[in-house]
Amino acid sequence: MPMNIAIDGPVGAGKSSIADQVAQRLHILHLDTGAMYRTVALYMLRNGIDPQDEQTVSAHCGEADVRVAYRDGAQRTMLGGEDVSDLIRTGEVSTAASAISKWPAVRRRMVAAQREIAATADMLIDGRDIGTRVLIDAPVKIFLTATPEERARRRYRQQIEKGDMTPYEQVLAELNARDAQDMNRETDPLRQAEDAGLVDSTNMTPEQVVDAIIAVVEDVYGKRA
Ligand code: DC
Repeated sequence: MPMNIAIDGPVGAGKSSIADQVAQRLHILHLDTGAMYRTVALYMLRNGIDPQDEQTVSAHCGEADVRVAYRDGAQRTMLGGEDVSDLIRTGEVSTAASAISKWPAVRRRMVAAQREIAATADMLIDGRDIGTRVLIDAPVKIFLTATPEERARRRYRQQIEKGDMTPYEQVLAELNARDAQDMNRETDPLRQAEDAGLVDSTNMTPEQVVDAIIAVVEDVYGKRA
C-alpha cells in the first residue's frame, strides 16, 4: 500500500504551498486535486458552457481529458495533452471550478481519477474531500485552516506581489463566497473528517505548519524526513 497523506481545508489555508514543502521533505509526490477541478472548469469556459448549468456540465464533463504528469517532481496538469498548469490560476477559473465541483457527475469522475493516481505512488493529496471521500482510509488526515480574515490577508499579499491590486475587502468577499459554495454543496461538502487532525495556522509560520504535519506523519509512519 503506498503512503497516502490527505490534507483538506478551505481556500487560502496554504494547502498547496505547505503540501509542496511537506512532500519535498518526505520525498514523495504531491497531488493537487483542485488543479483537476480547475482544468474541468477551463474546459467548460473554453466551450462556452455555463459552470452553473448542471445538466450541460454533467453531459460534457467526460469530454475533458484531464491528466496529471510530474516534471522534476512538480505536478503539471494537462487538458487533452496541453499543459494548462498556469492557465488554470485565474480568478475566472477559480470561481468556475468552485461551481462545477458542486455537480455529482463531475465529482464522480474526479474522485475515481484521484483514487487511481493515489494508488500508483507514495503521495500527499490535497483538496476538499480527500479525507472524507477520496481516501477515507488514509492513515494520515489533516484539516488545515485559518480564520477567513487571515486567509484573505495572505491571498491579498500574494496577489499584490504579482501586481494584482484587488482590494482586501474584495479578496475577503470572494473567499467567503467560495467557502460558502464549497461547504454548503450537497455532494461531499468541505468538512473536517472525524479522524482528521486539525491544524489552525492562523498564528503559525509556514515552517511551524510543515513541522506540525511532519510530526503527525512520523507518528504514523515513523521517521522519514
Ligand atoms: O484548491 P483549489 O482552490 O485550487 O480548488 C478549486 C476548487 O475546486 C474549489 O473551490 C473547490 C473544488 N475542489 C473540490 O471540490 N474538491 C477537491 N478535492 C479539490 C477542489
